[in-house]
This record gives sequence, C-alpha cells and structure tokens, in this order.
Amino acid sequence: MISKQITDKIAQFETPFYLYDIELLNRTLETVKSEADRYNYKVHYAIKANFEAKILQEVLKYGFGVDCVSGNEVKVAIEAGFPANSIVFAGVGKSDKEITYALEQGIFAFNCESSHELEIINELAAKIGVVANVALRINPDVDPKTHKHISTGHADSKFGIAYKEIEDVAARLDSLTSVKITGLHFHIGSQILDLTVFENLCDRVNVLVKWFIDAGYNLNHVNLGGGLGINYANPEGETIPNFVEYFSIFNTKLEIPSDMDVHFELGRSIVGQCGELISKVLYNKVTGGGKNFVIIDASMTELLRPALYSAHHAIENLSGGDGSKVYTIAGTVCESSDIFERDIELPTLNRGDLISLKSAGAYGSAMASRYNLHDLPISVYSDEI
Ligand SMILES: Cc1ncc(COP(=O)(O)O)c(C=O)c1O
Repeated sequence: MISKQITDKIAQFETPFYLYDIELLNRTLETVKSEADRYNYKVHYAIKANFEAKILQEVLKYGFGVDCVSGNEVKVAIEAGFPANSIVFAGVGKSDKEITYALEQGIFAFNCESSHELEIINELAAKIGVVANVALRINPDVDPKTHKHISTGHADSKFGIAYKEIEDVAARLDSLTSVKITGLHFHIGSQILDLTVFENLCDRVNVLVKWFIDAGYNLNHVNLGGGLGINYANPEGETIPNFVEYFSIFNTKLEIPSDMDVHFELGRSIVGQCGELISKVLYNKVTGGGKNFVIIDASMTELLRPALYSAHHAIENLSGGDGSKVYTIAGTVCESSDIFERDIELPTLNRGDLISLKSAGAYGSAMASRYNLHDLPISVYSDEI
C-alpha cells in the first residue's frame, strides 16, 4: 500500500485523513475492464462505495456506467460526466422526487424493488409522458455467506421482489403501460469471498430468465449486482481482487440467450484496496482489567465499518515501533462500540505514531459523519503529493 512508500510526504497532513493510491485504483480498473470485456459484460460502478469526485473521474475514464441508490447519487454521477443512459437506480425507498428526476434524465433502468414501487414508477412516468425502463429486482433467496448486515438476497431481506410473488407481479405488468420490463436485477450481498455463491446465483438466474422469456417478456439484459469481496486480512497479499475467476464463473454458469446483455454493479472490489485511513496515536492507557488501550485520532465517524458490522481493517504502525505488544485500538467517539481492533499484537505504539487502517477505500469516507461534531475527513491522492 502506498502509505509505506510516502510516509515522509504524508506527515504534513492533519490526521485523520484518507489516502488513496491512484496507481492501484487504475490497475484495478484496468483489470476489471479487460476481464469484463473478455465476455462483453457491462460494469456499473456502485457509487455508494465511494463518491469522491477524483475517484469518479478515474472510474469515468474506463467507460463504466454507474449504479445508484438515491436521486443525489444519480445527480452526482451525471454531473461527474457519466452518461444518463449508463445509470441504473436501485433502492427500496425511492421517493417520487427521485423517481421523477431519474425519469427526466433518461437513465438506463430502474431496478425496481416491489410491485408497489412498480405502480408508482408507472404513475409518475405517465404523468410526464415517458415510458420507464425497469429491471425487476428479484430476491433469489441465495445465501451469500457473508455478514448478516450486508446480506441482501435471502428470503426475508427488505430487498427485491420475493420469489413467490413473481407470477403475481408479472400478471399485473400488462396493465402498467408506462413501464417497460427490460431486464432482471439481482444483488445478493457484499464482501462475498466464497465464489460458489455466485454459481448458486446463476442457477436461480437461469431459471428465472427462462420463465420470463417463456412468459413472453422481451428482456434485453440481466444485472447480477456486485458483491465480490476483498482481502481485508492481508491486503498487500491481494491488492487486486480475483476478477478473472469472478467473471469466468458467470461465463461458465449463465445459460441465457446470447443476445441478452449481462451487467454488474461492483463497488468494494473496485475501490476497497486503494484507500487507507491515516491516523495518529493520541494516548496510551491501561484499563483496570489490564488491557493496553491505544486511543487514535480516527474514530467511527471516519470509518464506521468496525462499529457497524464488526469489520476488521489491517492496522500498520507507519512510524515503525520497536518490539511489540497486544493492544486494543479505540477511536475518540463517546460510544463503547468505537473500537477498531481488540487484543491484536502490533509493533509498539506511542503518542504521535502514524498508523494506517488498510482497505478503507470502500464504504469508508462515504459513510463518514459529523457525530460529536467531528470534521469530515479530507482526502489525499497519491498522484497529487
Ligand atoms: C444494489 C446494489 N448493487 C451493488 C452494490 C455494490 O456491492 P459491492 O460493493 O459489494 O460490490 C450494492 C451494495 O450494497 C447494492 O446495494
């Protein structure tokens, strides 16, 4: 990761801040592009993972579309230069204002999450005299074998149209003249490392696509969402996720008509490894129970994932440290869950040491908040210092 090579240069910035390795981001994007192009797959960058303008400019160069989950995400994508017709819009709670805005922009497709939403999109499209292109987001009831808070494709999740509701929804489609069903959409979860999960997804997709085609629907695409995981435990051992195997699974397992396009919505796997959160050690303290706590100047307001889903980010003491000790690394916020790591052995940490929390490019700065009135973290880009 870049922080090691440029520790002297980053020492000038006030911590905590995000540091992005733009060269790694470009190598990752090149890999995604070349592997997706091999099968003529279309990739939409999941902008929720990281919406920083500089990151979007890098992604834009590769000709990908964007996957959005709010009207503001659609707006930011368009303002960044992504063509409206490369944008897909998912999310269980699209407001009337957001739907109308996306209709006016002429996005590629709404990934529609319920029959009720379908009716509202139909109504709003009729009101402004357009026909909305819609992909039905089907909940395929596939276990993604990931953390429950980032699982979306099991039967009782709030996402997508239930498997058993499909026939009813299809039966109502004929009366909805301002929506056109152009595809099917799936997204079963995030940080998926067991790739057999995607094989199971393909089995479901094959059956469903056949069902819709047999029922007379003229689908032009299937969207398989995102979810490919990254190596948080050993980021340096796997800086670029295994896109080769990922796309080849779909190529092997999907059995759909050859004239249907296959789309993906990748977030974490594209930007996760290029970002680090750089922080400084503030205090050492020993608890009554004898635990060595290190308080750093980053917290759950800059990187929420550990507090939100007990996520782990590899930690490195960029200032070296002699010897080693077992530490619990805590943030500054007045919440007991504001802990980055418990009982890990690290090179000794002393006040002023610069530390890096790795693999923080996805769902890091995007989830930052001003809780406790913290300032939002700034971003530093490797090619600008
Ligand atoms: C609908 C949808 N598509 C794509 C993604 C991106 O997932 P990932 O970052 O795991 O690739 C998400 C993430 O939550 C999502 O909700």
